Amino acid sequence: TRTRVGIIGAGPAGLILAHLLARARIDSVVLERQSRHHVEHRIRAGILEHDVAELLRATGLGARMDTIGFRHDGTNLLFDGALHRIDFARLTGRHVMLYSQHEVVRDLIGARVAAGLPIVFEAECAAIEGIGTARPAIVYRHDGAEHRLDCDIVAACDGFHGAGRAALPAAAAREYDRVYPFGWLGILAEAPPSKDELIYANHPNGFALLSMRSATVSRLYIQCGMEERLEDWPDQRIWDELARRLDHPGFSLNTGPVIQKGITAMRSYVVEPMQAGRLFLAGDAAHIVPPTGAKGLNAAIADAALLAGAIVRWARGEAGALAGYGAAALDRVWKVERFSWWMTSMMHRFDTHTGFDRRMQHAELEYYTQSEAGQTALAENYVGLPFAAPE
Ligand code: FAD
Ligand code: DHB
Repeated sequence: TRTRVGIIGAGPAGLILAHLLARARIDSVVLERQSRHHVEHRIRAGILEHDVAELLRATGLGARMDTIGFRHDGTNLLFDGALHRIDFARLTGRHVMLYSQHEVVRDLIGARVAAGLPIVFEAECAAIEGIGTARPAIVYRHDGAEHRLDCDIVAACDGFHGAGRAALPAAAAREYDRVYPFGWLGILAEAPPSKDELIYANHPNGFALLSMRSATVSRLYIQCGMEERLEDWPDQRIWDELARRLDHPGFSLNTGPVIQKGITAMRSYVVEPMQAGRLFLAGDAAHIVPPTGAKGLNAAIADAALLAGAIVRWARGEAGALAGYGAAALDRVWKVERFSWWMTSMMHRFDTHTGFDRRMQHAELEYYTQSEAGQTALAENYVGLPFAAPE
């Protein structure tokens, strides 16, 4: 078979790219290794930047988000037992939406299937060929057989463990990497959220985050050791530690049955360049951020919007439009990397910290919660830096 744009991966990046291309009447085929059920139930991120939510609304995908999602006009930092609110609306005139990544994925897949556009599940990309030519191809396995998708452009939106990044010519690629010496243990619990907005807590025992998914489901995270396993954390230990780290005047933690539990590693990673010949990377395929600040999903969507814009201009005859994608994407990616690294550095317990390092961290927390300029810098990044989307 043949199409104009072969898209590997039905995560947020691949699906929004396919959606934006379809609106510009550019054919694409989405290939996804997992089943539809798997990707529609995979629990991941929960915060959408202002412009990401606007992009979904502007392209016909805002209805469920505006019904079952929640608008958050601010967030909270907790340290020394005192809560500090960052008022996004007042500081920036913008906000974020609390809406699960798997719901975004469900909306995008639903729209694509309803429009009768091609998306193949349980189709695993095995090789990408001919990226140095004008007719690259994706070789994939589906239903026990090998298939070939000929295209003009290959968009690798296949996440951190996908095949796309490996297809960059090794001589041209450079990786930048930082691994943090801790992880996040996350739970989903049948408990009403203990607060109407998120709380990011820096506690002597380590970081904690209070988030939510609905009026009846809480999403909570605690910093844990890299070597720790789920067996080390029975539910009661998690609740006790959350209550300790989130404690402040007037607060009480709602608890309930834990319905999901997992440990996430913390890493910053970027590969440059994000393109080679007719191969283009978007989202986690090219970069990873630690989750503090909720940027992973948003960065993936910003990349895909930029790539869609470049492809649309190229398809309309602007021959040089594709060449600028990677540099434009990386310009924003590095700023998002900086914010995620900085939030992670400010909010966690580092066992290697000296007394001086701890004082520096404390001064940062005070500065960014007390100064109007500091609060604005945090808010501006949290609600999301601007990105270009096709009109
Ligand atoms: P993905 O969502 O990873 O999508 C890539 C898709 O490609 C997948 O569906 C995969 O199955 C498919 N694929 C891979 N290889 C192939 C192949 N060879 N052939 C075909 N298909 C393939 N971010 C936050 O901001 N907050 C969070 O709380 C948060 N929690 C996370 C928890 C976990 C466990 C993980 C893994 C990530 C989390 N993230 C979080 C990050 C965020 O979810 C990602 O940044 C986001 O999913 C990136 O979207 P993407 O489309 O680039 O990649
Ligand atoms: C969530 C995850 C994050 O990493 C974050 O910074 C905020 C919220 C969440 O899963 O709700």
